[in-house]
Amino acid sequence: MDPTHNPKTPAGSFHNPLDYLHLIFQEIKNIWTYLIALIVGLLIFFFSENLSWVNFMVPFFVQVIAKSIVRFKSRDLNLLVELPAQRDDPSFIMDHEGRIVLSAGKTKALFESLDIKYIQQFIGKKGFDAIRINIDPTCLEAITVPVEIYSSKTRKWYEAKAKPMFLYCGKPMGKYLVWFQDISFRKEYDLQQKELLQYTGALVSRLRELVKKDNALENIATFILNNYQAVFIIKKDEEKQFIGFVFKLKNNKIERSAPIILPESSLAPVFQSRVQSRIVTDDITRYASEGIFQSKYHFDRQVLKFIDSPVQNFINYHQGDISIIVFNSHKKVTIYEKQFMEVLLNLSQSIITLVDLARENDAQFLQKVMGLCAAAEYSDQITGKHILRVNEYSRFIAEKMGFNDEFVETIGQIAALHDIGKVAIPDIIKLPRKYNQAERLKMQMHTVYGADIIETMMGYETKKDFRLRMARNIALHHHQTYNGKGYPLLKNNGNILVPLSKNYKDYLVNEPLSGDEIPIEGLIVGLADRYDALRSRRQYKLSLSHEEVLKILAFDESYGIAGEKWYGPEIWKVFIENEKEFKNIYDGFQE
Ligand SMILES: [Fe+2]
Ligand SMILES: [Fe+2]
Repeated sequence: MDPTHNPKTPAGSFHNPLDYLHLIFQEIKNIWTYLIALIVGLLIFFFSENLSWVNFMVPFFVQVIAKSIVRFKSRDLNLLVELPAQRDDPSFIMDHEGRIVLSAGKTKALFESLDIKYIQQFIGKKGFDAIRINIDPTCLEAITVPVEIYSSKTRKWYEAKAKPMFLYCGKPMGKYLVWFQDISFRKEYDLQQKELLQYTGALVSRLRELVKKDNALENIATFILNNYQAVFIIKKDEEKQFIGFVFKLKNNKIERSAPIILPESSLAPVFQSRVQSRIVTDDITRYASEGIFQSKYHFDRQVLKFIDSPVQNFINYHQGDISIIVFNSHKKVTIYEKQFMEVLLNLSQSIITLVDLARENDAQFLQKVMGLCAAAEYSDQITGKHILRVNEYSRFIAEKMGFNDEFVETIGQIAALHDIGKVAIPDIIKLPRKYNQAERLKMQMHTVYGADIIETMMGYETKKDFRLRMARNIALHHHQTYNGKGYPLLKNNGNILVPLSKNYKDYLVNEPLSGDEIPIEGLIVGLADRYDALRSRRQYKLSLSHEEVLKILAFDESYGIAGEKWYGPEIWKVFIENEKEFKNIYDGFQE
């Protein structure tokens, strides 16, 4: 409140010398002036024994002139003294023990209404200690470092500052001038911002899921709808169109509107904000009617229809290609809320950009995978359907084993590449008879060639990219067995070798990998591939039934290996418990 408008402070109207006359007149009217003049006059008479009207008139005029000069000179100071009393936030004087020694105006009224005698009753012992620790009673000038305290009485956060008081001789009075400032909005904003950072941090860690489910906007909107009734998120798409969705909560569930395209000619706040590059915000309470408010902001009809209740207030902000407009804040819109919008939009934009990049990256990756798969199909007798089924079985096993979304999604895309190495041995593949020993060893090299092809064709980022590493591992290890009877042989003197040599003879001196030495994705795809190969008809064999294949996988007599030993107990358990699903996948993808 502006103290100059307070009718209780007449000093506020003094602006010219005429005011001085007004003050003189006031002093003349003051009964105390007469009483003091009478006492002084009598004292002069007592000591001088000279009774004269001058004895009384001189003290009278001296008082009137001196007092009015002092009052005239301190007219602004009077206003300033009023200031603490007019503040909404408490300011007072307390002693060592926290006893309120002096308060005035609103502070006094507040403390009286809450029956506060000691400041501890207002901010607790902890709050009092926090202020007291900061006060240095020997320091004449310094105001204490502000401390943040909470009052359960007013349910507000305050920043408290204090200053020790001193006598003119410099001796500490043992009293402190204390003043509070309400920082509840800022505290709430800090808290909200912290929550936002945590929330978006969690979103980034679930980026793959956001890409897969295509629900990044829903996730951002969910956070926003904690504080607003609805939110419209608009993005400029590749055709430079403004396309967006409105989100609102209905029965605690998020609802998304159909896509809304805003024409370039729209006068909606989105465009005002874009043109002016600033936050646009307003509140209906500032306008005489809803009509005036509506016509000023040209809210899009589809947006209003979806929100389905009158717009009371909104905040609109944009950055880059994204605009966000929130409707009907659940609380008063403050400067902090606007700042919060800026942070929110920054983080939202980062997430949306990351999702877009991840999606683009996925598309490029899949293109490469499909290209390689096409090559594999030419080289082998395998069909596109075999490849798709191996992807599906592998995805299913990984999901049942409890791997994360990224693992499941990736293995479900690239298990298809397991035999890509066969493109390097077309002569062996096409042999119309059983292999001899040397041919078998050469054929087994398709694992090494496959890993090499993936590393080369996918660029030299294989080590960095999780998906490429997995693709390479699958190509290299899908013929390993858990009990160490598979190939390629990659262990020498306890060291696991990098398969650099392209000559099968170089591997003969090595030992096989076993157990945890084999990447799990290799074993998973190994089972998927073998189940499907046994079920399928090939040039050299007939197709087998699901039940027949189950028996062979459980114990393969030609190799003398049980399923559990071949793939490890974990994978085998998933297979046995869900074997019907493998039949369903096989039946679902027929030639
Ligand atoms: Fe293979
Ligand atoms: Fe295969």
